[in-house]
Amino acid sequence: MMAAAAPTHIPVLLQEVMRFLQVRPGGVYVDGTIGLGGHGKEILARLQGSGRLIGLDRDQDALVQAQERLSWSAGNLQLFHEDFRSLPAILNQVEVPAVDGLLLDLGVSSPQLDTPSRGFSFQAPGPLDMRMDRQQPGTAADLVNSLSEDELTRIFRQYGEEPSARRIASAILRRRRTQRFTRTDELAQLVEEVKGGRRGKKIHPATRIFQALRIAVNQELQGLAEFLHQAVQRLKSGGRLVVISFHSLEDRIVKRALQKEAGRCVCRRPAHLCDCPRLIHIRILTRKPVTASPSETAKNPRARSAKLRAAERLNGPQPADQQKTRTQYNRANGLSSADSGQRAGMFEAAKDTQPPSGALLKTSWVAASARK
Ligand SMILES: C[S@@+](CC[C@H](N)C(=O)[O-])C[C@H]1O[C@@H](n2cnc3c(N)ncnc32)[C@H](O)[C@@H]1O
Repeated sequence: MMAAAAPTHIPVLLQEVMRFLQVRPGGVYVDGTIGLGGHGKEILARLQGSGRLIGLDRDQDALVQAQERLSWSAGNLQLFHEDFRSLPAILNQVEVPAVDGLLLDLGVSSPQLDTPSRGFSFQAPGPLDMRMDRQQPGTAADLVNSLSEDELTRIFRQYGEEPSARRIASAILRRRRTQRFTRTDELAQLVEEVKGGRRGKKIHPATRIFQALRIAVNQELQGLAEFLHQAVQRLKSGGRLVVISFHSLEDRIVKRALQKEAGRCVCRRPAHLCDCPRLIHIRILTRKPVTASPSETAKNPRARSAKLRAAERLNGPQPADQQKTRTQYNRANGLSSADSGQRAGMFEAAKDTQPPSGALLKTSWVAASARK
């Protein structure tokens, strides 16, 4: 019998992530979505055996893979089976007040999509599951079998931008009266019936419905903006934040959260009515999101929809609006008035967050359930 092939995942925008993260030996970095450790491997290589990488994922299968693949650098690695939104608590637990860099590569991994038993894909029959963390209650089948027509319509519209949201939700409710949904192919087939099949369309008719359900099951957008605010607070001065998103809803949240941290108005009201905090915590490094090159998308079609945004923590916060305080802000950040907001060349070596000298860090394995 042939051994099953090990799951693979090609890290997207790898060179670009490394360019923005600027990993330096001795630093402390967080990969909040470590997955199979593709980006993590490169971070560890650049740490050159000193410093540490704290990796989080809600998918225990992914962590098993990451631990195995990154075992060559276990002394510099700590893995946690956790949602990245718990990062502030984890950093407190490992006594790290601030980090040099944080990466989020949002969404699903290739093994999650490609493993039929995970239930993310309409391409292969499997249980209608879609949970990244299989210890959490509430599968896609639970939502499809229990939500009202209005709630399903809202999810399909909001998270999938599906034009036939109401018709599909109503067909689901009709079908539910006689038979519960348990499998991906049952749902994919119903969507095809409602929307009239593929008929030469590039994307499968169920694509948006599956995306919407996945986002709802894993509550992917909830708390993301708040998390980014907290993450900025935990960056050292000069520390870098890099976020890759894969759909417009997520990218919009990331873009606005970064704008807010950069002291810009996000309420879109006239200036005299704006009550945005207008405090500058970061400098945005990507005026527009960075996308994959044609050669990368040719090798890895998943990279096609990736959008990377990055920022650098400033020595702030500083008020954004007043000329007088801007001068003080420039001085505090080593900027001249000419290059205000353009350059911030301060990379402070923050000694307080280095691991104790000589201590060999163990790869820790903290099950979410153990602490809850
Ligand atoms: C695109 S993959 C990351 C791949 C990784 N960068 C690599 O190169 O191998 C996304 C991963 O993030 C995880 N994930 C998504 N949302 C999460 C969350 N809120 N907290 C922790 N992990 C999450 C998923 O389980 C998945 O393993």
